[in-house]
Amino acid sequence: MSYEFITTRIEADKVGIVTLNRPKQLNALNGELMDELGAALKAFDADPKIGCMIVTGSEKAFAAGADIGAMASWGFSDVYGADYITRNWETIRSIRKPVIAAVSGFCLGGGCELAMMCDFIIAADNARFGQPEIKLGIIPGAGGTQRLPRAVGKAKAMDLVLTGRMMNADEAERAGLASRVVAVDKLMDEVLAAALMICDYGQLATMAAKESVNRAFESGLSDGIMFERRLFHALFATQDQKEGMDAFVNKRKANFVNA
Ligand code: CAA
Repeated sequence: MSYEFITTRIEADKVGIVTLNRPKQLNALNGELMDELGAALKAFDADPKIGCMIVTGSEKAFAAGADIGAMASWGFSDVYGADYITRNWETIRSIRKPVIAAVSGFCLGGGCELAMMCDFIIAADNARFGQPEIKLGIIPGAGGTQRLPRAVGKAKAMDLVLTGRMMNADEAERAGLASRVVAVDKLMDEVLAAALMICDYGQLATMAAKESVNRAFESGLSDGIMFERRLFHALFATQDQKEGMDAFVNKRKANFVNA
């Protein structure tokens, strides 16, 4: 499939990589780009040989936010009528295999929100995160006021959302937004290594792990633990559980078959 605003490739026959590709606009996210991103991720999710996905941008920008030029003339009837954001930005939430955000450069507004919709963020040391929508007379609209406080706590989320300031990669890692920070020229190597590690595990277990961690943000503790416990029990019905434990006991490498 050919795309206009993204490129896609498969690495090592098992990692699906989507690169946002509107360099002149610092990867500002327009509707077409979000349609393409959703379609590409869904195609990778449906491909049995893909075990993990990466969403990335350029060295200068992961994404500088929603496309302000496109939004500037819209009124309420346009955005409500077309169900702006909900219509296509949230496709990524339906992806069941792990998705890593490889973030370099500007990661602002909708860009930061997109990165937070991924399962975890690995940041280059030049990354700059922020929710600057307040400067435009609006607020974050793709989950920023909800996912950011869950990631970094209320104080820092309020600070970022109300001042519109950017935070650098070290602050983002300290605050819990990025899982690790690496040198910018090592970003893709590091993210790919993490993705390949995930691909080596059984897909049923990685999908269950993702589903269970995500449930922590959707439920109370008792319900979340019950959800985890049932998935944990269910995995004992898989060949991969037999294989993983037999491999450990017999001191050999496991060969998971996703069944
Ligand atoms: N939308 C559209 N175009 C954008 C853009 C955006 N979000 N961000 C940057 N661009 C464009 C600029 O207009 C510029 O285009 P031209 O060369 O045609 O003028 C080009 O990208 C390069 O940008 P700058 O010249 O501004 O580059 P810079 O290095 O001086 O500054 C920046 C970089 C600090 C990221 C600055 O571009 C900026 O502040 N961008 C806007 C960030 C922002 O406000 N994001 C939030 C958008 S609203 C949102 O996302 C809503 C939501 O929650 C869903």
